[in-house]
Amino acid sequence: MKLLITGGAGFIGSNFIYYMQTKYPEYEIVCLDSLTYAGNLTTLSDAIKKENFTFVKGDITDKTLVNELFEKNSFEIVINFAAESHVDRSIEDSGIFLMTNIIGTQVLLDAARKYNIRRFHQVSTDEVYGDLPLERKDLFFTEDTPIKTSSPYAASKASADLLAMAYYRTYKLPITISRCSNNYGPFQFPEKLIPLVISRALADEKIPVYGKGENIRDWLYVEDHCEAIDLIIHHDVVGEVYNIGGHNELANIDVVKGILKSLSKPENLISFVADRLGHDMRYAIDSTKISSRLGWLPTTSFDEGIQRTIEWYLNNRTWWNDIVSGEYKTYFEKMYSER
Ligand SMILES: NC(=O)c1ccc[n+]([C@@H]2O[C@H](COP(=O)([O-])OP(=O)(O)OC[C@H]3O[C@@H](n4cnc5c(N)ncnc54)[C@H](O)[C@@H]3O)[C@@H](O)[C@H]2O)c1
Repeated sequence: MKLLITGGAGFIGSNFIYYMQTKYPEYEIVCLDSLTYAGNLTTLSDAIKKENFTFVKGDITDKTLVNELFEKNSFEIVINFAAESHVDRSIEDSGIFLMTNIIGTQVLLDAARKYNIRRFHQVSTDEVYGDLPLERKDLFFTEDTPIKTSSPYAASKASADLLAMAYYRTYKLPITISRCSNNYGPFQFPEKLIPLVISRALADEKIPVYGKGENIRDWLYVEDHCEAIDLIIHHDVVGEVYNIGGHNELANIDVVKGILKSLSKPENLISFVADRLGHDMRYAIDSTKISSRLGWLPTTSFDEGIQRTIEWYLNNRTWWNDIVSGEYKTYFEKMYSER
């Protein structure tokens, strides 16, 4: 089996590569990643040691490069993780989000069509559904929930989903889509909530929390997400959309306090800052479809997953220290200093 994994130097893509290399050591994997600020080649230093793994530095919007790559390799499955993925950055400037997340997906879909791949899997997000009210704990996103995006990031991801579905309907391209809730685990860039809290708490630095920290997210350990994608790409389910979630709903403030407690750090490190524009209140996923049809269930509880994640950040300080001391420092100051 020959796989193209885009965005594999980022958080979920790299975890997926390690998951696949462990489970299917015979698979040939090519990773295409342009190494934006969120991509990190050191993340893949162990993956690269394997003979049947190839890393290609390149942009998914580069039609010539993408076509050459498909021409040279007879990919059977393409899994598209490559994306601009941070909501805050999309609020600052949406241009690159539209380029990568929409045009990049279109370039990949066209190549997949031209070279007759067996499956194109689009990694999407629950954010395409917008949000749910805090007071309606009975409501969940299903695959039939209408698309109703809040941020430019979510709008770009939803556009990519619609394109993938259009290629299925129009050209019978064998696509699948997964829409997952918030992931956490090793190798997550420290601009996202959980690694941000861990890295700043360890440095005894103030931890910015939007609004009152009431916003609820449904947290899923990254390995559970990888397992769900593995099931989808290995089942004959073309044209289907699957929601993936952990039934692990937590308010941001509780996540922050829980991490501080685990690290024995004081709560006065928390600094409430002006809320994100258009901030979604609650995400909650109904993942009945993937559970009942493909037998997927998350196996890592939040307590276990967060401990593993904290330990990983404690044991891999060089990985994130290099990030937080570099260009990201300027970004952090810009984003939070005047809130
Ligand atoms: N992180 C989450 O909680 C979450 C939840 C649901 C869905 N998703 C989706 O999963 C996917 C992966 O998310 P992540 O958190 O790992 O993101 P990430 O930002 O950590 O990684 C994105 C990767 O894509 C690469 N990339 C960006 N633009 C590219 C381009 N034009 N060409 C080639 N490579 C490019 C980056 O270099 C990086 O390695 C995204 O599509 C995201 O929308 C993420």
